Amino acid sequence: MSISRTTPLRVAVLASGRGSNLQAIVDAIEGGQVQARIVAVISNKKDAVALERARKHGLTDIFVDSKPFAGRPDSREAYDLMLLERLQQHEVDLVLLAGYMKIVTGVLVNAYANRMMNIHPSLLPSFPGLDVQKKAIDWGCKLAGCTVHFVTEGVDEGPIIIQAAVPILDDDIPETLAARILVQEHKIYPRAVQLFAEGRLRVDGRRVLIEGAKPEGEAIISSA
Ligand code: GRF
Repeated sequence: MSISRTTPLRVAVLASGRGSNLQAIVDAIEGGQVQARIVAVISNKKDAVALERARKHGLTDIFVDSKPFAGRPDSREAYDLMLLERLQQHEVDLVLLAGYMKIVTGVLVNAYANRMMNIHPSLLPSFPGLDVQKKAIDWGCKLAGCTVHFVTEGVDEGPIIIQAAVPILDDDIPETLAARILVQEHKIYPRAVQLFAEGRLRVDGRRVLIEGAKPEGEAIISSA
């Protein structure tokens, strides 16, 4: 991985829903905190708010329909092959999954090994999958949080780049906890992208080492 780049990192964001993480990254780029360029926002949902946000910021928005592949035994791989073509057309260096509600296959994972990130609203490896805020409350956890990790074929299993923690309060319901976690998601995802853009992430087995990290660490531990 290069330490410094002469051209801005070319990023694609894959999102299926409201796209608040996309927005946080767009804002961080526009605000100069992240040196990158979003060259495509891609969705499997035609009416995803994320695509609207992209259009509002003059970004290329792409809807890739999964229906033509329905029923095929290799429907997921065929879909990802189509996505891969789009990513290659746009010369994408880094792929960001941000509320992308499809499981990515080896087709994409291998093509973008250590160059594809995901954000997940739990402190992995606790609570991979769905409804994780409810699961953390029900389990009786006192801390919850979010994780940015590189994407591997195992769902929510890839090497962890950065995490942020928040408390779970006695009167929390999944929605209140999700909102508290989301504030941190919007901080750590742009941070992870900037660390990548600076060429400071080194994957060593399961560990992601951050070159030049402050002695006290780069992770954010938050109480609000
Ligand atoms: C976030 O909570 C993210 O952690 C999870 O899906 C949600 C997406 O939210 N993977 P948004 O679409 O970015 O607002």
